[in-house]
Amino acid sequence: KRQIIVDCDPGVDDAFALAMAFAEDALDVLAIHTVAGNVPVEHTTKNARGLVQLLGVDVPISKGATAPLLFEPHFAAEVHGKNGFGEVELTDLAPLSPLTAMESYVKILSEAEEKVSIVAIGPLTNVALLIKSYPELLDKIDCISLMGGGLKGGNTTSAGEFNFFYDPHAAHIVLNSGVPIIMSGLDATEQSTFRQSDANILKEKGGELGRLLHDISQSALRFHKEANHTDYMNLHDVMSVLYLVYPEFFTTKDAFVKVAYDEGVMRGFSHEDVRLQASNNPNAKVMVGLDDEKIIRKVLQTLTDKDVS
Ligand code: BDR
Ligand code: CA
Repeated sequence: KRQIIVDCDPGVDDAFALAMAFAEDALDVLAIHTVAGNVPVEHTTKNARGLVQLLGVDVPISKGATAPLLFEPHFAAEVHGKNGFGEVELTDLAPLSPLTAMESYVKILSEAEEKVSIVAIGPLTNVALLIKSYPELLDKIDCISLMGGGLKGGNTTSAGEFNFFYDPHAAHIVLNSGVPIIMSGLDATEQSTFRQSDANILKEKGGELGRLLHDISQSALRFHKEANHTDYMNLHDVMSVLYLVYPEFFTTKDAFVKVAYDEGVMRGFSHEDVRLQASNNPNAKVMVGLDDEKIIRKVLQTLTDKDVS
């Protein structure tokens, strides 16, 4: 089994990613670390605790950074709702670990006998702080499978994808850490589609979890209809989990990726340095394509535990 720590800002698609991570037999979730991103960290932490309680799994949940390394927070309530879960309030919460996200990283990595993978599906603030604070622990990290960036431009601004835009300095630090990176960026994740009809299947056949995922996705589906004129939302974060189990669903390319971290129109922009001397130094495996049909089928099958063909 691959041991993973999920660093997240739930978040509608984060909730799908967490649900998939627990459902996949090949993955063992050692801890969930929260970070401010889509909404403030109080909300992302509460949502993680509510989801874990509903899933009935036993996993430590640690609270992480409340703000980006340098910039002020910039939330995405218009997509995920003010509380991050489309205004669905969970009240039955799993306990919060007394360890901070940083303390939990240090404990898990220093005690680990085998390498651990980090699935980072929110802003990279916690991971960057770990890299800068405990470089001696980096060789305990097998890879960082992150959702962020894209070679084609952004979704929060024309340049910046949300996670990279929110904390571009953290993205820069992570990409330059020397740890193997799988970057699920918008080039691929925007090819993933989750429609109202898929939400309805979850609601009908997915039990309590399916009902929750249906309910929290309503505001995001509405946002995409109004803002993007699409009848689907993207399951961005799910790809960082699925890649670890089903790499055959994806196409990737090795690239030397750089992130613009200055304030301004290019904030959070990630791009490939295509100069010949740079192509000798890929720092990330960048996801550039995916098989949407196989992925949505896998997600629906797993979360309803039934054949949905
Ligand atoms: C990313 O930003 C967040 O809103 C999503 O949860 C995902 O991690 C997509 O750009
Ligand atoms: Ca996220």
